[in-house]
Amino acid sequence: MEKIVSLAKRRGFIFQSSEIYGGIEGVYDLGPLGALMRQNIINFWIKKFVLEEENVVLISGSCLMHPRVWQASGHLEHFTDFLIECKNCHKRYRADHLAEGKFLGQGKAKEKNQCPNCGSKNFTRPRVFNLMFKTFLGPVEDKTHQTYLRPETAQSMFVNFKNVLNSMRLKLPFGIAQIGRCFRNEITPGDFIFRLREFDIAEIEFFVKPGEDEKHFDIWVDKWEKFFLDLGIKKENLRRKEHPKEALAHYAKRTVDIEYKFPFGWSELAGIANRTDYDLKRHSQFSGEDLKYFDEEKKKKYFPFVIEPTLGIERLILAILCDAFEEIPGGRTKTTKPTKEIEILLKLDKKVAPIKVAILPLIKKNPKLVEKAREIYRMLKPHFVCQYDEVGSIGRRYRRQDEIGTPYCITIDFETLKQEDVTVRDRDTMEQERIKIKNLIPFLKEKLEES
Ligand code: GAP
Repeated sequence: MEKIVSLAKRRGFIFQSSEIYGGIEGVYDLGPLGALMRQNIINFWIKKFVLEEENVVLISGSCLMHPRVWQASGHLEHFTDFLIECKNCHKRYRADHLAEGKFLGQGKAKEKNQCPNCGSKNFTRPRVFNLMFKTFLGPVEDKTHQTYLRPETAQSMFVNFKNVLNSMRLKLPFGIAQIGRCFRNEITPGDFIFRLREFDIAEIEFFVKPGEDEKHFDIWVDKWEKFFLDLGIKKENLRRKEHPKEALAHYAKRTVDIEYKFPFGWSELAGIANRTDYDLKRHSQFSGEDLKYFDEEKKKKYFPFVIEPTLGIERLILAILCDAFEEIPGGRTKTTKPTKEIEILLKLDKKVAPIKVAILPLIKKNPKLVEKAREIYRMLKPHFVCQYDEVGSIGRRYRRQDEIGTPYCITIDFETLKQEDVTVRDRDTMEQERIKIKNLIPFLKEKLEES
């Protein structure tokens, strides 16, 4: 994990928020490469689940919502964790994060809890802590103006159910999809970008006829898992975990997590929940609006059931980085002299790779080569995310690109000036092909679409 954190910072994927002020816990910024990677994931998600699905529409909801939303949704009552505080060093923990995942509440068992910071076994009693961030609407900071930053995107899909249904003239089954910012005041954020206080969720509320919910649930578990495989995550690093009945959220009839084998162990990457008709019913009740669906075939009104596939974008970025990260002691190029250098190869799926093509003049000192390389760079830039690099030996520049997962490197050499062709190097095989400059765009387009 330390190696991933270090690479992420060194190469501009992920920075700690407000780092020059000491950083703030549980909040990270995506750097230039991380932001491109995030966009690639989002584009693919929209392609898969909005453009290629027949009946899914996209919305973009606000982070601030009416405070009654959170009463109706049950977040005010249920979106809580148990918090305990070490009486010695005053560090606070989520109770279920101590003693191997179990807070041992009373008597002798309690003794087993140990503060990871100071080793003390003296804790306060657990108290309920709501994870929503409070804020105020307008200049008056009193209870009546208090609201919350959304802890999930789902509620905008429910409160807009009627608007979307009517404006888009949809029929069951149909989905409302959204990717957006969420805020959770996690007691113990950590594991780099795994547990954050501010992050993006990509989720779909898929509305179905009651009675057809179980069938659609299974379909969505398969589709959700396939999405991760399509992004290049290795099958052996993914598994499904069924939530036991007693651990289900207040709204859920069934939940399956898709777990990833992170460096710190198997943990939730994404989930699929059967939310039944809980949310629409509750919002109808709390708002007074009739959120039932009129079934023209059956000539009756009812509340649809909801299947909710959900995933966290930052958690997915972390899983992708962990999955793609390889270290090659001694490097991949076999030289006669043994070297102690450890090469890093980020075997990112081509769809996800932030930089698709690197343009490298063989040597910097030759103005003709540089001029030609920059001409090719300008030619390719409108078509692909490119990086131009002329600093250091060609081997070092290849390694720099391998480290950030660039699928193709183009080298401009003296032959280029005579033959109007270049060398294209494949990141994974290191094979090199000569390609005519005039054929470069279609060649790269085809290659990049292969994954
Ligand atoms: N609407 C359902 C919902 O929000 P969730 O399991 O609480 O479900 C959805 O969150 C996804 O968001 C999770 O599967 C996980 O990938 C991600 N996630 C949850 N809490 C997170 C946190 N504190 N930091 C980063 N990602 C988080």
